[in-house]
This record gives sequence, structure tokens and C-alpha cells, in this order.
Amino acid sequence: MESQAAVLVLTYLIFLYGGCEVCADCDNITQFSTQLDTLLAEYDRESPPASLVIIELDLDPRHASIQEDTSTARMLADLRMTWEDSRITWNSTDWGCESALAPAERLWLPDVGLVNAAATGDEAGLRARLTSEGRVTWHTRFDVNVPVAMQLKDWPYDEQTVAFKFASRGYTLEQVELELSDDQQQATVSESGAWELVSVMGTRAVWMRGTDSRRLISWQVTLKRRGAAHARASATVLFATVLLLAAAMVLPPEHRHPLYATAAFVATLWLISALLRLPSSASTPTLLTLQGALCACGGVLSVLAALVARVAVFTSTPPHALRQFVFTASKICKLSLQEELSTEGTWRAAARLLDMIVLAVAALVLFVLTCYAISVL
Ligand SMILES: *[C@@H]1O[C@H](CO)[C@@H](O)[C@H](O)[C@H]1NC(C)=O
Ligand SMILES: *[C@@H]1O[C@H](CO)[C@@H](O)[C@H](O)[C@H]1NC(C)=O
Repeated sequence: MESQAAVLVLTYLIFLYGGCEVCADCDNITQFSTQLDTLLAEYDRESPPASLVIIELDLDPRHASIQEDTSTARMLADLRMTWEDSRITWNSTDWGCESALAPAERLWLPDVGLVNAAATGDEAGLRARLTSEGRVTWHTRFDVNVPVAMQLKDWPYDEQTVAFKFASRGYTLEQVELELSDDQQQATVSESGAWELVSVMGTRAVWMRGTDSRRLISWQVTLKRRGAAHARASATVLFATVLLLAAAMVLPPEHRHPLYATAAFVATLWLISALLRLPSSASTPTLLTLQGALCACGGVLSVLAALVARVAVFTSTPPHALRQFVFTASKICKLSLQEELSTEGTWRAAARLLDMIVLAVAALVLFVLTCYAISVL
């Protein structure tokens, strides 16, 4: 135990005294700026550090959300760029330090920017970090708005994927190569809004621009709606509508209309309020389709109940075929007992037969709709 502790302490001391000289920041500003002036005396910030500069990119989203009224996604992110500039190297033993912050305006900087939309404000970092081996790290903060083709099929559980594409504005593929940083740090975004950041995926592609090609880095940012309240309320209204329709079907035909109408009205109110809240989108939410179907069910059932009521009180002589049909049907299911062949009796039996068919079909439709609703909600 003791020897282990001694080794640990020794390692720590070596790290403190031996390692520090190498990892130290250049904290003597006056001394460093004099040294940097000497180093950059011949430096031309207009010319790139090499004929092919390899830049590592890393995106660190700070905030992401979707504005549904305009169908755009907004993201606030830091873009970290790292590259080698062999002209800015120094002997860390001589200088006594390993890395330092330098004014970015004195260095060559890559012109990487958003290409699939306009950045409303990008704030280039004023200082870049230099290391004695010539590695430069520079941050740019982007505030970007990108149009989204909203996919609302799964609303209110929908996920939207937005592509943020970055490329060099002035340098071709032969001059500037962009690469994704290996240590893709997963964003730790503390979101409190209606959207939650699910994932950030970077991909590389070639972007043809006229005759020359550029390297394109595309980040697919996936956002998930936090719509638990929406989902619960919508499910409640949906099942209340189904229950109203089912309750109406149990009542005698002449008492059904008010409940059918109420069910259709509830569905209509929900549809109107949902349509006011939903943005224009490339797809219709399944929930909207379901509620629309229930609304139509209420309407159609109302019409059929009215038809059944009318048929039951017809007084004209029924066609022979109908009389024959009702007579045959009455043997299978009990339709009419005493007045089998009278005019009124035939119509009443026909109405009862129609009602049975309507109820059977409606029950089947409601069952299918309910099963589908349960599977998607
Ligand atoms: C910084 O460097 C200068 C010049 O080398 C020296 O005179 C000065 O004492 C240093 N300051 C500190 C705080 O070490
Ligand atoms: C840096 O300077 C030290 C002493 O001035 C020298 O011994 C060492 O070789 C130098 N290192 C390089 C890489 O030039």
C-alpha cells in the first residue's frame, strides 16, 4: 500500500515539475507578444500555410429550436477549427511555454461558413490558440436559421432533422480539405424549450460549384418535440369521440342524432384548434387523419340514422323485390313478427334491416380506428 502511494505521489510530482514546462501556457504576456512579433515579422496572413490545408471541424451546439410559424430551425453553435501552420512554431524549451492565445487577425484564417442558408450573425473568435508545434485552434460562433421541411406524421411525437452545411467559400478541394474531428464531443445542451436535441451527426461530401469542387461538411441535427401534454390531450379527445359514437349506437335510432352530432362537433373543434397550432408541413399528422375520420363517421352515421327513421315511416307501396328481400331476411334475423306483408310492416322491417347493417359496419370501423389509434399513440 505504502509503496503504491509513494509511486502515485512521485508520478504526481513528476507531472507537476517535469511536465509543466511542456504543458505551460505562455502567461508572461509582454514576453510572449515580443516573441510573437519576431515570429510573425515575415508572416503573410493572406497566404495559406500550405498548398493543401487540412482543417478539422467540430460543431458544438449550444441551443437548437424550431420556429414552427416560419418552418425554420435556429441553431446557436460553436464551430471549432483546427489546422497546422508550420510558420508559427517555436522551441518550447527556449520560450518556456507550450501554447498561447494570439490575436486571430494576425493569422491566416479559413473561410469556412454556412452554405445552405444565411447565418444571421456569426461572431468570429478574436483570438486563436497556438501551440509550439504550429497547431492553430480557432472558434467561430454561429447563429443560423435554416428552412425545414416539417415532417409532422408522428405529431406530437415528431422528430425533425435539419442539415447545417459548411464549406470553404473561396478555396477548392485541392486547397482546403475539411475533416470531422475524431473527438466529436456530444453536445451538453441544457434545453428548456419545446424541442430537445437528440443527435448531431456529421458527414462529408463533395460539393460541385460550377467547375470547381469544394469539401462540404454537413451536420444533421435531430430535434425531438416535447409534446407530452399535447399527446395526452389529443388521445383523450380521440377516445371521448369514439365513446360518444359508441354510446349513440346503443340508443334507439330516433335518439341517436344528438350524440352523433356532438361527437362530430367535438372532433371538429379539436381539428380547428390543432390546425391553428400546426405549421404548414410536408405531411399530415396521423392524429389529424384519425380525428378527421371520426368526424366523418359522426356525420355519415347521422345521415344514415335519419335515413333509417325516414324509411320506417314510408307509406308508399314497397317494390316487390324489397318485399321479397325483407321476407327472406326476416327468416334469418328477427325483423318483424305480426305485420310481415303489410306495406308499413315491410318498410319498418326494411328500416330495421338497414339499421342493423349500418350498426355492424360502424362498429367495425370504430374498432379498426380505435386499434389504429392505440398503435400510434
Ligand atoms: C516577463 O518577461 C519579461 C521579459 O523577459 C521580464 O522582464 C518580466 O519580469 C517577466 N514577467 C513575469 C511576471 O515573469
Ligand atoms: C530547443 O532549444 C534547446 C536549448 O536552447 C535545444 O537544446 C533544443 O535542441 C531545441 N529544440 C529544438 C527542437 O530545436
